[in-house]
Amino acid sequence: MNRRTFVKNTGLAAAGFAILPAAQAFTAPDPVVKLGIIGVGMRGQAHLGNALRRKDVNIVAICDIDDRMLEMANSIIQKSGKPMPKVFKGDVNAWKKLLELKELDGVIIATPWEWHAPMIIGSLEAGIKYVGTEVILGITMQDHWDVVKAAEHHNAQVMMLENVCYRRDVMAVLNMVRQGLFGELIHLQGGYQHDLRNVKFNNGQQPYGGGVEFGEKGFSEARWRTEHSVHRNGDLYPTHGIGPVAEMININRGNRFVSLSSFATKTRGLHEYIVKNGGEQHPNAKVQFKLGDIVTTTISCANGETILLQHDTNLPRPYSLGFRVQGTRGIWMDVNHSLYIEGLSKTNDAWEDANSWLEQYDHPLWKKYGSSAEGAGHGGMDFFVLHAFVESIKRKTATPLDVYDAAAWSAITPLSEKSIELGNQTVEFPDFTSGQWMYRRNTFALNDEY
Ligand SMILES: NC(=O)c1ccc[n+]([C@@H]2O[C@H](COP(=O)([O-])OP(=O)(O)OC[C@H]3O[C@@H](n4cnc5c(N)ncnc54)[C@H](O)[C@@H]3O)[C@@H](O)[C@H]2O)c1
Repeated sequence: MNRRTFVKNTGLAAAGFAILPAAQAFTAPDPVVKLGIIGVGMRGQAHLGNALRRKDVNIVAICDIDDRMLEMANSIIQKSGKPMPKVFKGDVNAWKKLLELKELDGVIIATPWEWHAPMIIGSLEAGIKYVGTEVILGITMQDHWDVVKAAEHHNAQVMMLENVCYRRDVMAVLNMVRQGLFGELIHLQGGYQHDLRNVKFNNGQQPYGGGVEFGEKGFSEARWRTEHSVHRNGDLYPTHGIGPVAEMININRGNRFVSLSSFATKTRGLHEYIVKNGGEQHPNAKVQFKLGDIVTTTISCANGETILLQHDTNLPRPYSLGFRVQGTRGIWMDVNHSLYIEGLSKTNDAWEDANSWLEQYDHPLWKKYGSSAEGAGHGGMDFFVLHAFVESIKRKTATPLDVYDAAAWSAITPLSEKSIELGNQTVEFPDFTSGQWMYRRNTFALNDEY
């Protein structure tokens, strides 16, 4: 019996409910969730490490096609002292064999973007009821529809593991939004503003930098992600920016994205980086990149809000997701860690350091699990996203971020590509919920459980 069950039971006994039959009074220990991980590259290894730290998870299988990545995963597992999972490798379809394992309660997919949709659908077809996929759901609009339809058909949960939704300051602001501090929300901003030049290029040996190779000669994300910058122009990575703000305005749960238009700048950053670090004679100096250095997207919502998203990965710049949450009574901006609430802020019309507010409104989940989250990646938010996935499986309930969230957020990419291709035309969002957005209620982070 774990501590929480014990507390619950003593609470019940004290309240006079001790007449329950013994089997019910002593709730079974936490079930152990059996997971497989497809893709144990840099991100898959982070999930692996966090999963191995949990007593309620057994990693029963892993799959990858890169022996170096499998070796790295191996050493993480050995250090943990947990049993070695079954390893599936050898070819790009080895994951299908992993899915034949009967004991799997769920799978985590952390492969390149183009593999997500086929692997999610393959998992659902194999009878897996909980699929946690890394961002983003698929490549094309058809991929997103196919995943939604497959999840509905198999009555299964597909959760996109959007960790930024669980960032401590973001959750505190969500808490403030829900308590009405900002009044009615009017405008939100976010994005992916992250200098990825040493992720898109490396020396084929290390994941970050050291050279200007990509594709077959690159390692980790340089092996696959950079090609997307060669061939595509749009907001290629919208979910870290959109997920948190979508939760604040109840997208798919009383609200929906209606339309967007996107604008792309010229493309200079990646070429300059190659020339500077590899020389003009390097073969990659001839590569023409299609992705604009900064892609700006404006989204309109059914309830009258606008959202401004930026994708900014090719230029020198400090990291910032650029959040701004603004309503009829106040505003928060993460770039200057500041906030202003009319009537409550100390000085009229002046920015106030957000820290004391963020502490005061710390989300109940962080209050409860903050210490467990220490050491998990990205400032602790990686703990929470895995926690939510695992707890949903244990409770056999819907995941708090579901397939409709994943599809709506991910759809921004093909829609922004289309808008740019059409000369910045406004394009309509599909409604993946088929009208249900009007009736659905937000279930994300409503309490301190998961
Ligand atoms: N949420 C976050 O904070 C975060 C951070 C980093 C990456 N990501 C996402 O995680 C995913 C993986 O990114 P990464 O950084 O780990 O990249 P990576 O290149 O380091 O890892 C991808 C792994 O997938 C493996 N793989 C490729 N095809 C495969 C196949 N057919 N079968 C099995 N394995 C296959 C590769 O060999 C590699 O080991 C991407 O969607 C990325 O956007 C998310």
